Amino acid sequence: MDLKKVVREIDDFPIPGISFKDITTLLQDGKAFKYSIDAIIEDLKDKNVDVIVGPEARGFLMGTPVAYGLGIGFVPVRKPGKLPSEVESYDYGLEYGKDTLEIHKDAIKPGQRVAIVDDLLATGGTMGAAAKLIEKLGGEVVSMQFLIELEELNGRDKLPQYHINSLIKY
Ligand code: PRP
Repeated sequence: MDLKKVVREIDDFPIPGISFKDITTLLQDGKAFKYSIDAIIEDLKDKNVDVIVGPEARGFLMGTPVAYGLGIGFVPVRKPGKLPSEVESYDYGLEYGKDTLEIHKDAIKPGQRVAIVDDLLATGGTMGAAAKLIEKLGGEVVSMQFLIELEELNGRDKLPQYHINSLIKY
C-alpha cells in the first residue's frame, strides 16, 4: 500500500519553510491505519518484546494498537508534570532551548525488552531521550519503530546502536 498517498502534507506549518506531515488523514483511513499497525507488529513479532513505549502524544496513537496486537503492555513517556507517580526525567537539547520527558520509575523492570513506537523520526531527539529513560530503569531497547522518517534530518545517525524501522521515508 502506498501510505504516502494518505499522509497530508501542509506547507509552512507550524512555521514558514516546514512541510508538515499530517498523519490524521492516515489515521482516519481504516485500511491504511490497520496496514501500518500490522506492518509494525510484523517487524516486532520475532523480537521477544516485553513492553511497548510510546512518547506523547502521537506515539500514543501508534504505540497502543501495536501493544494490543502483540498482547503486551504499553508505557507512556510524557511531557513534564503529567505522570502522577514517581518519575525518571531526562532533559534533551532542542534546536532552541531544551525539553524534558518523563516515565514512571516502576513502569519498566530491569532486563525487560522494550520497543519504542512513534509516528515520526525527525532529529532523533525524542527517541534518544525515550531510550535513555528506558535504559536508566534497566530496560533494553530492542527496536525503534516509526510510521514516518524524515531522512534529511539524519535522526538515524544519532541512534546508531539501535534497530530502526520506518514505513514511509521522505
Ligand atoms: C513530534 C513527533 C515525534 C517528535 C519527532 O512530536 O510526534 O515524537 O516530534 O521529532 P524529533 O525526532 O526531532 O525528536 P511533538 O514533540 O511535536 O509532540 P506531539 O506528538 O505531542 O505533537
